[in-house]
Amino acid sequence: MTLSASMIVDKDFVIGRVDDRIFGSFIEHLGRAVYGGIYEPGHPQADERGFRQDVLALVRQLRVPIIRYPGGNFVSGYDWRDGVGPKHLRPRKLDLAWFTVEPNTFGMNEFADWTKQAGSSIMWAINLGTQGIEEARQAVEYANHPSGSYWSDLRIEHGYREPHGIKTWCLGNEMDGPWQIGHKTAEEYGRIAAEAAKVMKWTDPTIELVACGSSGLGMPTFADWEATVLDHTYEHVEYLSLHQYYGNPDNDTPTFLARSLQMDEFIRSVIAICDYVKAKKRSKKQMYLSFDEWNVWFHSHESDKKLEPWQLAPPRLEDIYTMEDALVVGCMLISLLKHADRVKIACLAQLVNVIAPIMTENGGAAWAQTIYYPFMHASLYGRGQSLVPLIRSPKYDTKEITDVPYLEAVAVHHEENGELTIFAVNRSLDERLQFEADLRSFGACSLIEHLVLENADLKAVNTSEAPDRVKPHQAGSAIVSESKVTASLSPASWNVIRVRVS
Ligand code: AHR
Repeated sequence: MTLSASMIVDKDFVIGRVDDRIFGSFIEHLGRAVYGGIYEPGHPQADERGFRQDVLALVRQLRVPIIRYPGGNFVSGYDWRDGVGPKHLRPRKLDLAWFTVEPNTFGMNEFADWTKQAGSSIMWAINLGTQGIEEARQAVEYANHPSGSYWSDLRIEHGYREPHGIKTWCLGNEMDGPWQIGHKTAEEYGRIAAEAAKVMKWTDPTIELVACGSSGLGMPTFADWEATVLDHTYEHVEYLSLHQYYGNPDNDTPTFLARSLQMDEFIRSVIAICDYVKAKKRSKKQMYLSFDEWNVWFHSHESDKKLEPWQLAPPRLEDIYTMEDALVVGCMLISLLKHADRVKIACLAQLVNVIAPIMTENGGAAWAQTIYYPFMHASLYGRGQSLVPLIRSPKYDTKEITDVPYLEAVAVHHEENGELTIFAVNRSLDERLQFEADLRSFGACSLIEHLVLENADLKAVNTSEAPDRVKPHQAGSAIVSESKVTASLSPASWNVIRVRVS
């Protein structure tokens, strides 16, 4: 069977400008993300601050514009004040989110320094589990107020004369989840989020806020949760959050590769709820989406159950990603790009060691996992105007999901550079896909390169011994003639076709 699919791309059919922040990521005090990941004093590659430069080099290549911190579930039991000031005075505490010991030797100021080196900005999550509006207000004052008040002067006393200028703040984390420390009903959360938002913005009117949406499309409270929370917070926040992880525990790869269709549905539903609340309130304000946790997560579930409690930085959530996981991540990135008009922030969860594109050994090497590559390609070449992808593709059905197009694709037009990038996944596991893109409005075009990530073994992974087993090549088959792109896409492949346009 020969599969063929086509796509029409027109520069005037714009979905929206891609907000750079959709290439954000996430660092939580969880497992070895901080301790042994980005921060490892004494490591041969660490600087005098303990920041691993080998890790930073890999992070910089991803051009991550914003990084969510310090959690995640962790934040709902975290006192940010424990992580500032002289290190010898900082308390060791039990973290009840992950049942580990938190030494607090890394906190807000260290993270601000680290993100500067990474070329990123901070998205700070406040604790609305065990804390409330006063601690949230204090955090904004400490981080952003210039001077002349107790908390801003304390920051200066801690060695930071200039404010950190943290612009984006999350009002808690996954407060709909019974696993969350301080779990709340939508009413309870909506009220405290609105009150926290008020005092945070009174302290610094330049900040932007993200309210917690559901922890996933499958939550029983989904939709009601969003509607109730927005009822309380609509005029106080700029974004509503979405979180979603996918896995392949039954080794059903065709279904796994189709999961991004559910992500599309999730995004469409949340947009509908936001617009319903907007209509109900007769508001002029548009609510945007912050997809601030997304990834593949399932490989480590079993081994994590065996971890002993109260260790410091145990290897938790250390998913080792396969080639097929990279395809799912690629499809999820395409889904985000297809909703560029409403999704303005997204965070690949997470960045280092914990369900992450970057892995490290304590005292040893750092390397890129398979999922590093689609994320890097999208971040480097997916900035500009996202264009409506008019796609004709044969489809397949799985037990759970029907009408799955073999071709998943989107195009992004970078006007300033005169470039158009097509991101395309061939979901067929055994057939090549004859691909044609009609770029009719662009006139004569030429090929810059066709990058491909593929591997005959869908379960292939990168390890410290074989860090380059799954890695992109530039030998894709795309040909560009006038305004037509043709290519034969390998089975189960991620493709980045970069075209010079006028
Ligand atoms: O990213 C791992 C965890 O997943 C986060 O701590 C939590 O917010 C989510 O459930």
